[in-house]
Amino acid sequence: RGVVEAGKSNLSFVGTAVEWWRLEYEDGYAQAAARHYNLITMTNDCKWSYLDEYNFSRCDAGLEFASAQQMGFRFHTLLWMRGGNPAWLDESLASADADKKQQYLHDHVANTVSRYSRAGVVAYDVINEAVCDFGYMEYTRRDVDGRWVASQEDCFFSKYYNATLKISDWYSGNDPVDDYETVIDDAFRQARLFDPDALLCLNDYQDESASGFEHRKSDNIYALVRGMLERGVPIDCVGIQTHVDLGYNDRRNWYPGEYANYQRLQDLGLRIMVTEFEARCTNMGVPCKEWDLDAETTQAELYAKGTRLCQQFPACMSFTTWGFTDAASHSNTDGRYGNRHPLPFDENFDAKPAYFALFETL
Ligand code: XIL
Repeated sequence: RGVVEAGKSNLSFVGTAVEWWRLEYEDGYAQAAARHYNLITMTNDCKWSYLDEYNFSRCDAGLEFASAQQMGFRFHTLLWMRGGNPAWLDESLASADADKKQQYLHDHVANTVSRYSRAGVVAYDVINEAVCDFGYMEYTRRDVDGRWVASQEDCFFSKYYNATLKISDWYSGNDPVDDYETVIDDAFRQARLFDPDALLCLNDYQDESASGFEHRKSDNIYALVRGMLERGVPIDCVGIQTHVDLGYNDRRNWYPGEYANYQRLQDLGLRIMVTEFEARCTNMGVPCKEWDLDAETTQAELYAKGTRLCQQFPACMSFTTWGFTDAASHSNTDGRYGNRHPLPFDENFDAKPAYFALFETL
């Protein structure tokens, strides 16, 4: 925090995701978050299902914590296209006509944004994960070369909306002829009505690079946001989640590809926020054999590269990791692989080389 405030960095924020229950009940957790960061995101507590279940209380508590600590707050997320939505929404969307479907989403965005429209709320992830894995749009079911691809059954929203638009149409800036895309545009317009100041973001994963394995998805996100801008949709920012693993250095063209992608987004006049950085000790899902000095060093390099990349672009205003201690990482909680060590602090809240790489780069 001190580093950022000293103004050595052009990043305004270095952030972490936090969980309400840990802030509330876990010794040392809230203090550590407040000591090292100046921006927080609630991991789950502001997702629609949680807002419903806990009547906003956990998300509210997160914002109050941020305000009390003079930290900024990222609201994650208004509409999550892949999941995290209440069960009743699934049932309701399945049986509703077009107007009614729109009403559910409008009401949610209006109620939520009017509640959180206050000082300290820096940005909303208005839409989270609009595009399916490997760049196949949920709603086009075509890849960037125009080939049809298998549909993504697990994508929550796509089940309820027509999917007819082609990539070429997004570039044209024509009015959307696709109701999934209308959902995206509408959510941003609705959010802007109720919060004139906060940054409105489209957040996604595997959209870091304009080359290599993940270029399709990045290209699609780029096309989508460019079309939104041409249609006058009030989008301010692209959130780049950046869940990476230690294989990234070998597997991908980490630098030129990322650089080109950040550059083209900046050229659109959009802000960039790195929203969920972590560097897991895995390679394509396969866990590291050992968490040793080599692995720690490789990880620190990835942290340094990630922050340096962001630093090079005035548009890139924040760098958030998806949690800060390995004891509370979502990558460790599925129990399958044990500790994948993805975050800047170890399980004892001791700073790792990744921490020093992150903060020294700023
Ligand atoms: C994850 C949380 O970390 C988990 O606790 C939860 O079980 C599922 O969601 N991308 C996102 C986040 O945008 O919302 C996801 O968070 C991680 C991937």
